[in-house]
Amino acid sequence: MGIAVSPIQIDSCVSDFIGKPRKMLIDGKWVNAASGKTFPTYNPATGEVLAQVAEGDRADIDAAVKAARKAFDSGPWSRLTASERGKLVWKLADLLEQHLEEFATLETLDNGKPLTVARGADVPLAVDMFRYMAGWATKLEGTTIPISVPYTPGAQYHAYTLREPVGVVGQIIPWNFPLLMAAWKLAPALASGCTVVLKPAEQTPLTALRLGELIMEAGFPDGVVNIVPGYGETAGAALAAHDLVDKIAFTGSTEVGRLIVHAATGNLKKVSLELGGKSPNVVFQDADLDAAIAGSASAIFFNQGQCCCAGSRLYVERPVFDRVVEGVAAKAKKIRVGSGLEPDTSMGPLVSEEQLQRVCNYLDIGLSEGATALTGGKKVGGKGYFVEPTVLVNTKDNMRVVQEEIFGPVVTAIPFDDPEELMPRANDTVYGLAAGIWTRDISKAHRLASAMRAGTVWINCYNIFDAALPFGGYKQSGWGREMGKDALELYTQTKAVCTRL
Ligand code: NAI
Ligand code: MG
Repeated sequence: MGIAVSPIQIDSCVSDFIGKPRKMLIDGKWVNAASGKTFPTYNPATGEVLAQVAEGDRADIDAAVKAARKAFDSGPWSRLTASERGKLVWKLADLLEQHLEEFATLETLDNGKPLTVARGADVPLAVDMFRYMAGWATKLEGTTIPISVPYTPGAQYHAYTLREPVGVVGQIIPWNFPLLMAAWKLAPALASGCTVVLKPAEQTPLTALRLGELIMEAGFPDGVVNIVPGYGETAGAALAAHDLVDKIAFTGSTEVGRLIVHAATGNLKKVSLELGGKSPNVVFQDADLDAAIAGSASAIFFNQGQCCCAGSRLYVERPVFDRVVEGVAAKAKKIRVGSGLEPDTSMGPLVSEEQLQRVCNYLDIGLSEGATALTGGKKVGGKGYFVEPTVLVNTKDNMRVVQEEIFGPVVTAIPFDDPEELMPRANDTVYGLAAGIWTRDISKAHRLASAMRAGTVWINCYNIFDAALPFGGYKQSGWGREMGKDALELYTQTKAVCTRL
């Protein structure tokens, strides 16, 4: 099966944007890389170069960090009131919403995802994230604390806490939800009063750069947000190691997460990490099976399976195993794989040639370990980075395809006999990002939700995200929480002030 890509008319503002080499944003100005170098970003539906982008490296990161330092330490940013800060973040949300179609198209071109998904999920969720965090700008409060110091008898004190921004924040984001990850990172940092150097993923730098234009249009002072595209080993590593950065926030692979932690040791900058997952999705025989089948299919196939929280280990109670797994396979067969720009596409290409190789390699490993593909199992021929939605059966808990993150549309299905036996198996992973439970028995659902070693548990639903709902990992899936008020913990610190009266 090959993918037919018909020529599609792209809006002129999008074709203008990709038509010239994109510069980086440092200290309020759009500049070329100090080296003069650019790198290509590709359209994964065709494998063709989509645009050229300035290639940031150590010198550009250094200039951006110094601009962010100046804006934080002495610039107008720290003198703005909380309300003024919140208004700017809200205005950015309004501008993004006004350009929804343009951002959705740009995201589809650069990442490959279906336009319907970019339009219905990525951009609206990003808008909502900025709005939600804009409201927090005026609500970051300290407390007054009664103290009773034992070694100063009779003395009275007035003690209180201030919640202050951590300072200059380096943010390194991945390619699976490029704009949304930028929003998850920027919104709480800006609401808290931090300044930022953002490094988008080299595979998908375009929506972050376009967002940079809106950030300047909204009226953020120079240097508050700097955006430096470039490769991880160069620009990313320089940002993670920079001594003038107070905190680094990273989303990506667990492997690079470890490198970030090492790089942060020089000045002991604070670190938050949102890493990989291998999430169990558990279907009981007492579930609404139609809902469980549809939900389990979208738990793995949404975003071409390139989700850190993808429900990639499907555990099904034995009496309904065949029905559920055949149901998920039937859904997989109905998925329209194609260019994200085609209106009836429900699954686009993987993001890159490298990711296609990685996923195909796992398919080979799984089949050689003895797994069977009930459906899918292969790359799709022709140009572009397409792979078939795949359901693997005859899998065992210790197989590599059941233990390692594949980050593609590949689910492993395994039967279980009773919940007592299930829980240790569901938790038998180095990861702990998310889990799904499908049952009509509410006591059982909440008991299991408590037993799951995961940062998010979805009951009778999957992939439900909201700006107010904290998201992050147990175990090797990360440090800290994004979204919700928990995210503000990552961008603020507490100062205790004590006065003798
Ligand atoms: P990656 O972890 O290499 O890339 C994520 C970000 O980190 C990118 O911006 C990249 O430029 C940057 N980066 C890479 N090396 C760096 C370094 N040494 N120092 C600082 N920054 C660095 O992920 P990659 O290679 O694109 O994908 C590999 C696997 O990672 C995927 O197959 C998937 O399993 C996992 N992944 C998980 C994501 C998540 O949402 N948790 C997102 C993307 C990938
Ligand atoms: Mg691209």
